[in-house]
Amino acid sequence: MDILKRLDTDHRNVTQLLEFLETQLARMQQIESADFGLMRDVMHYMTHYPDRVHHPLEDLVIQKLIEHDPSAQQLGEDILREHKDLARKSAALLEMLLQVTDGEMVPREEIEATGRDYAAFLRSHMEKEDERLFPLAERTLTNQDWHEIAKGIKHLADPVFGAVVQNQFRQLYQRIQ
Ligand SMILES: [Fe+2]
Repeated sequence: MDILKRLDTDHRNVTQLLEFLETQLARMQQIESADFGLMRDVMHYMTHYPDRVHHPLEDLVIQKLIEHDPSAQQLGEDILREHKDLARKSAALLEMLLQVTDGEMVPREEIEATGRDYAAFLRSHMEKEDERLFPLAERTLTNQDWHEIAKGIKHLADPVFGAVVQNQFRQLYQRIQ
């Protein structure tokens, strides 16, 4: 398996979902036209796949990279910290959307501000990885490194973009097709 290709595919998929999320956030200006259930599903996905599978895989790449190239330490530490921040931000946004879909009152401005902050943060995070981390890893890591990284991966399938779409994500999957 080509790990960089997989990470790149994940980024494209996440970008597609972020665009969907941002469209829904923009719709919140017009009362009642945002689909909070689907926004919740997007964030369910983010907390299940990117936060639990994609980021840990990148963390393994970063560890290897720093072993080979100490000058990558700062970049690596920044990205590791951002993974922790993202997990916190995505859980907070999911929690907010769960409250909305459970019928609780959450101020629209709060959802919109939290959603936009999350989307902007994740976007610039992925850009940093695309532009700096992945090219550096491609230049630096050996076949043996990639082999060892592959052994450390959690083999969890992508519940939206993988071979089988999980039941709870069916509606979201159909919407973004
Ligand atoms: Fe990433």
